[in-house]
Amino acid sequence: MSLIRIEDAWKSFGALEVLKGVSLEVGEGEIVAILGRSGSGKSTLLRCINGLEKIDVGNIWVDGTLINAPDADIRKLRETVGIVFQSYNLFPHLSVERNITLAPTVVKRIAREEARDIARDVLRRVGLEDKVDAYPDQLSGGQQQRVAIARSLAMSPKAILFDEITSALDPELTGEVLRTLAELAGQGWTMVLVTHEIGFARNIAHRAVFMHAGTAWEEGPPKQVLVEPRSEELRNFIQSVLI
Ligand SMILES: Nc1ncnc2c1ncn2[C@@H]1O[C@H](COP(=O)(O)OP(=O)(O)OP(=O)(O)O)[C@@H](O)[C@H]1O
Ligand SMILES: [Mg+2]
Repeated sequence: MSLIRIEDAWKSFGALEVLKGVSLEVGEGEIVAILGRSGSGKSTLLRCINGLEKIDVGNIWVDGTLINAPDADIRKLRETVGIVFQSYNLFPHLSVERNITLAPTVVKRIAREEARDIARDVLRRVGLEDKVDAYPDQLSGGQQQRVAIARSLAMSPKAILFDEITSALDPELTGEVLRTLAELAGQGWTMVLVTHEIGFARNIAHRAVFMHAGTAWEEGPPKQVLVEPRSEELRNFIQSVLI
């Protein structure tokens, strides 16, 4: 069964039609890379999947629940599907540990002690165990982004959406964040990644999706789609990214 199933999703902002019939499925444990030009609706699609935006027409199921139903439990949806943004949005006045334990203790009502153990576990997964007592401004951009990833993991989501999380980072910091993602990929997490890192997508994603003209224009195994694209639109896009 698909963990995420999007069926003919449409979404406009005023007169601007952004999603024009997107259909996409993400299986449990699957890693899907989403690529496409600026403005093609990649972020909008992710935001619709975890309830930050609502589609106008179509259906989205997450873990068997229709999330665009009028009575959908959006809070539960956000626990099921985590999202990590380009701007990591850590609280500057809270320690790394507290940044991570905040949602588990407040939203999930997990005891502080248990939440601390969770924080240590997720920090280990992103290679930052030794930063548990640090404050965000004592960390590099790459480390802050890895804390943001750890914070998302701490809620034990079934899937995590990553929206161009390396775009604001210098190349050497990008490398460490991509290595963290590659490690998570090896641990069986279900991940949807919007990325411009074509090489990375080719190496770790099970499937690549090219968003164009408001649809999932072309999709398939990355080694095929990103190496021998069928459509001229995708060929042009890949060329423009590689230049
Ligand atoms: N809340 C909003 N209100 C109005 N317009 C919006 C809103 N969110 C997105 N848009 C518009 O929808 C279009 C798609 O935006 P979106 O952010 O999904 O693109 P994207 O593919 O993620 O682009 P990028 O690669 O630059 O991040 C853009 O033209 C954008 O300006
Ligand atoms: Mg975007």
